[in-house]
Amino acid sequence: MSVYSLKSSKGPLFPLRSILVFLIALFGFYVCYFSFNQITLESKDNLISGEEQLRTPCGRRAVPNELMQYVHFPKPASYNRGECACNPVRFFVIITMQRSGSGWFETLLNSHPNVSSNGEIFSIRKRRENASSILRTLDKLYNLDWHTSAAKNECTAAFGLKWMLNQGLMGHHKDIVNYLNKKGVMVIFLFRRNTLRRIISVLANDYDRKTKQLNGTHKSHVHSKEEAEILARFKPKLDVAALVPSIRNAEQSMADCLDHFSSTRHMILFYEDVIRDPNALSRVQEFLGVPVMRLFSRHVKIHTSPLPDLVDNWDDVNEELNGTEYAHFTDSADYVK
Ligand SMILES: *[C@@H]1O[C@H](CO)[C@@H](O)[C@H](O)[C@H]1NC(C)=O
Ligand SMILES: *[C@@H]1O[C@H](CO)[C@@H](O)[C@H](O)[C@H]1NC(C)=O
Ligand SMILES: *[C@@H]1O[C@H](CO)[C@@H](O)[C@H](O)[C@H]1NC(C)=O
Ligand SMILES: *[C@@H]1O[C@H](CO)[C@@H](O)[C@H](O)[C@H]1NC(C)=O
Repeated sequence: MSVYSLKSSKGPLFPLRSILVFLIALFGFYVCYFSFNQITLESKDNLISGEEQLRTPCGRRAVPNELMQYVHFPKPASYNRGECACNPVRFFVIITMQRSGSGWFETLLNSHPNVSSNGEIFSIRKRRENASSILRTLDKLYNLDWHTSAAKNECTAAFGLKWMLNQGLMGHHKDIVNYLNKKGVMVIFLFRRNTLRRIISVLANDYDRKTKQLNGTHKSHVHSKEEAEILARFKPKLDVAALVPSIRNAEQSMADCLDHFSSTRHMILFYEDVIRDPNALSRVQEFLGVPVMRLFSRHVKIHTSPLPDLVDNWDDVNEELNGTEYAHFTDSADYVK
């Protein structure tokens, strides 16, 4: 019997053919259903960074796949993003330590029309009392419902804060890393290589907090050469015995921090590089996904002299560090005029 006879005969073979057609149809349906499921699964993964995106019809064609998670279209409750509702926003956090140039760095960032960095929001103890108060504060911030002097217009494209290691960041690092990765927040580590200079700056700043040298007000950052000169007149006396341990401590904290937060999308920036490397700020702007432009700050550096002029007991300090792994701190300037 040939196949043709199958086709022509309408007898007992007919049900067999129907069953075959039915099975093929069933299989086709199954394949469609299965791949449809996969598509929805995939898009769910892509949109992991926040439910706000599921509600937003904004296109994200220009965004490379690996960055998808870090691109957001927030819908603040307190205002409308208007014409820029479909301009993507990057969330960032500057992780740093006191007297590492972060105040200056933040004013530089905020001179960009599309960047809003909202300061040390965790300097307020209540916000960092426990992990849940930290995460709640971050949620509110990253919804862009946070109004500080750094607030820009509806066309903000990078939004963040500055966070000191000792403001609950290290204590709750596991919860915070989890949050940053889930939410799609990028990290800029801003550290100062010369820990000795940082310690001197901390001591000088502590002294001014007590003595208020500028007409009775304390200033951590100044805007004029005259003010800088007045503050730089004070030469702290360093506790020589505690010097090496405290440098070592600070270096350990930085290393631990980099270790804890290594799984985040991040860049590492050194204060000394922001000063010396003309491309450092371009790299930051590229990282934040904003148009690169010249940034400016009105801040004036306080300590511009060579180290021996900044410290009361320089000879002792020099002798203490001579021969240690930190000796290079004593001869490196961090400021090039
Ligand atoms: C966290 O701190 C807040 C106060 O800021 C408090 O109301 C809340 O009960 C605390 N939560 C936990 C889990 O301790
Ligand atoms: C930056 O801001 C300007 C003006 O506010 C706006 O026109 C522009 O689209 C913004 N750029 C980005 C990348 O959001
Ligand atoms: C302190 O106040 C006097 C008088 O108001 C003013 O001339 C001077 O510039 C002020 N100095 C500083 C460092 O602010
Ligand atoms: C460090 O100590 C050695 C030996 O005491 C001395 O010769 C050298 O001049 C010192 N270096 C500095 C920079 O003071």
